[in-house]
Amino acid sequence: MSEYVIELKNVTKRFPGVVALRDMKIQVKPGEIHGLIGENGAGKSTLIKVMTGVHQADEGEIYIDGQKVSFANPKESSEAGVACVYQELNIDRLMNVTDNVFMNKWIKGSSGLLDYAEMDRRTKEVLTEIGQDLDPNEITGKLGMGQQQMIEIAKAILIDSKVIIMDEPSSSLGEKEVEQLFKVCRRLKEQGIAIIYVSHKLEELFELCDCVTVMRDGEYIWTKPIEEVTNDSLVSAMVGRSLDNQFPKEFGERGRCALKIENLSQVGRVDDVSFEAYEGEILGFSGLVGAGRTETMLALFGSDPIDGGKVYVYDEEVNFKSPREAIEKGLALLTEDRKGQGLVLGQSVKSNLILSSLREFTEGGLFLQEDKIEKTCHENVDALKIKTPTIEETTAKLSGGNQQKVVIGKWLNTDADIYIFDEPTRGIDVGAKVEVYNIMNNLVKQGKCVIMVSSEMPEILGMSDRVVVMREGRITATIERDSKHFNQESIMQAAWGGSLDD
Ligand SMILES: Nc1ncnc2c1ncn2[C@@H]1O[C@H](COP(=O)(O)OP(=O)(O)OP(=O)(O)O)[C@@H](O)[C@H]1O
Ligand SMILES: [Mg+2]
Repeated sequence: MSEYVIELKNVTKRFPGVVALRDMKIQVKPGEIHGLIGENGAGKSTLIKVMTGVHQADEGEIYIDGQKVSFANPKESSEAGVACVYQELNIDRLMNVTDNVFMNKWIKGSSGLLDYAEMDRRTKEVLTEIGQDLDPNEITGKLGMGQQQMIEIAKAILIDSKVIIMDEPSSSLGEKEVEQLFKVCRRLKEQGIAIIYVSHKLEELFELCDCVTVMRDGEYIWTKPIEEVTNDSLVSAMVGRSLDNQFPKEFGERGRCALKIENLSQVGRVDDVSFEAYEGEILGFSGLVGAGRTETMLALFGSDPIDGGKVYVYDEEVNFKSPREAIEKGLALLTEDRKGQGLVLGQSVKSNLILSSLREFTEGGLFLQEDKIEKTCHENVDALKIKTPTIEETTAKLSGGNQQKVVIGKWLNTDADIYIFDEPTRGIDVGAKVEVYNIMNNLVKQGKCVIMVSSEMPEILGMSDRVVVMREGRITATIERDSKHFNQESIMQAAWGGSLDD
C-alpha cells in the first residue's frame, strides 16, 4: 500500500497552442484536505480533468493506492474511487433528489423494476450522513445552489469515492452554505476520504486545508503543510512576484449624479429601493447572498420588468424595456452569471469582446472595421492579461477566470458612462483582481460612475467610496468612506438587519 491515495507524476498535457500542464505532480494522502491553488489558467481544472479521465495526459502517470492506472473516461475514474464536484453542477433540475443521486446506477428489485423505495431510503441515509435534511422527492431545481452541491457530494459518497475533488465549490454559495460545506468536508475527512479543494479565496484554504499545492503556468511549485504557509508566501508562489497592495484604491472627483433610483420595486425581490450614484465614485453594494442586490441591478437595467419606481439617468427619466435600451443610454452591466448572461461560449474571444459595442466598430453603420477590432481586442487581452493562444480561440476553451476577464473586456469596450459590476472578481486570482481594480480606478478618474456589487468584504472596504447595504430586498444603510461606520462590523450589522447609530 502506498502512503498516497492518489498520486500524479510527471504529467504533461498539451492543447493546440498551449501547454496546460508541464511535468506536474501532486500527492494526496487519505483523510487529507488538500488545497490546490494557482492563477487563472495555471492548469488547476486541467489537472482535475486528468484525474477524472475527462482528459488524458500526453505524458505522465496516475497512481491510486500505489497502483498505476489510466482513465479513458470519467466512468473509469469513478469506478476507481475518484469523484469530482464540478463548478457547473451535473444536476438535472427537473428531476428529484433520488433520481439525481442514482442517475445511471439505478437499483432494481427482484422483479427487475426500479426499486424506488430502496433508492429513496439510501438517498435519505447518505444525505443525513452529511447533515442534510432534504426530502428525496423534492425537485432539485427548487433547491438552492448549496443544496444542489450537497446532492453532488452525496453522489460521490454513494459510489464509495476515496477522493472527492471540488473545483471552486464555494464561488456561488452564501456564508451559511459555505459553513455547511466546510462541515461536510470535515466529516468526509474523518471517514478517511481525501478532498482536493480548489479556490481563489485564500482565507478558505487557511481555514479548511491541511496542506496546499501551488502551481504556476502548468508547473508544480511546492506543497506545504498549511502551518508553514502565509498569505504572502502563497501569493508570491502563485504570481511569481510579491504583491505589495491588494487594493490599490485611487480617488476620482465626485461629479454630477449619473444615476438616480426612486422607490424601485419588484414584488418579492426588490422593495422600495432608492439611491443615487455619482460620476467619479465607486458605489459599493454589500449584503448577504440573496439580499436583492443583483435583482436591483437587473431591474434598473431593463432585464426584468419592474412593478414600480423611477429611474433617472443624468436627470432624465428613463423606462428601460430591455438591456439594449439601457446600453444605448450609456449603462453597462457586468452580470454575476457569466455563463448564462455574459458570454457566448461557442464564439471566439474576439467576437465576445466586441459583442456589446458592434456599432463602435462599424463605418457608416455598415462595414466592420477589422483593423480597429483587432487592435482593441489585443489591447483588452494585454490590459486584462487574458490568457489565450490567440483572439480567435473559442471562449469555452479558456480557463474559468479568463472567461470572466473576457466579460469585463466586453463591457469596457462599450464606452459607457455608468458601469455596474456584479461580483467582478469572482473566480479571478489575486493578481488579476488588482488589474480589475486598476481598471475601475481608471474609469472613475475619467469621471465615469462605477457601481460594484460584491460579497467580498475586503473588496468592498478596499475599493468603495460609499457603500449601500441591502437586506431582503431593502436598503438598510448607506455609508460614506469617511464615516465611523465604514468597517466590517457595521456593514455586517446592517446586512443582518441591525440599525446603525449616528
Ligand atoms: N479544452 C481545452 N482546449 C484548449 N485549451 C484549453 C482547454 N482547457 C484548458 N485549456 C487551456 O489550458 C490552460 C489551463 O487552463 P485551466 O482551465 O486548467 O486553468 P485553471 O487553473 O483552472 O484556471 P482558473 O482559475 O481560471 O479556473 C489555459 O491556458 C486554458 O486556456
Ligand atoms: Mg479552473
